[in-house]
Amino acid sequence: MREFINGLSVFFEGNNSNKPIIFLHGFPYDHTMWQAQIEILKDKYLCVSYDIRGLGESPAGDGQFTMESFVDDLEIILNELKLIKPVICGLSMGGYITLRALERMQDKFSAAILCDTRSEADSNEGKLKRAAAIKRINKEGLAPFAKDFITNCFADSFIHNKKDELNKIIEHSSTFNPVGVKGCLLAMLSRTDTTQTLTEIKIPTLLVCGENDVLTPPSVMKEMFHKIPDAEFVEVKNAGHMTPIENPDEVNKAILNFLSKLN
Ligand code: MLT
Repeated sequence: MREFINGLSVFFEGNNSNKPIIFLHGFPYDHTMWQAQIEILKDKYLCVSYDIRGLGESPAGDGQFTMESFVDDLEIILNELKLIKPVICGLSMGGYITLRALERMQDKFSAAILCDTRSEADSNEGKLKRAAAIKRINKEGLAPFAKDFITNCFADSFIHNKKDELNKIIEHSSTFNPVGVKGCLLAMLSRTDTTQTLTEIKIPTLLVCGENDVLTPPSVMKEMFHKIPDAEFVEVKNAGHMTPIENPDEVNKAILNFLSKLN
């Protein structure tokens, strides 16, 4: 089932009376990246996912996004749906939104799952890379950037063994509105650093990271793990940055195990 909230495409699977989990996807992907998790969780949980503004089926508008406006969108969805203490689960850019949401309104959530993400803001080098990406999209269109960026997200084993699946993901993301994709790049480039407040996260938190993640490697996520008081860390074998797609069985196992320990 799909509903439009504040203009965004929001998707539901599972029974309304079950405990809610809200999924936030990475960049430049959409809600479909959580398919394998929602498939196994929907029997016991209300699974809510949505396309972040500018990506997938959500409108790009003027593309003037900030991490703060992404958290505003999330808050509007939570309020509109009257979700009671959902578990929040975000990957990479979805993790940046999750971390800022935890700073702003931690009491709205019962637990958090952070996949392949980091609390640090972009370095100067990172900012310049985003600027170069925007320039490249303006010059060449979205497809060449999408191909290179997405390929870099996956471990070599996936690139070689799951070529068709990877090509489908690249093709799908290449259809997104370039204005929305560039808006997300600007929002990531200008986001704040949430490292200082990791020690203030009071809710149970699961951190998941692919062993071959080159964008947010296990060493980076382990540092976050050591700062969050009630945290658990799982390193996922045979996976790069897109663990839920690359090794869904291991990720599902980690999530189910984590959820089974919550009240
Ligand atoms: C993502 O997967 O959301 C991106 O890799 C995040 C980023 O580019 O910082």
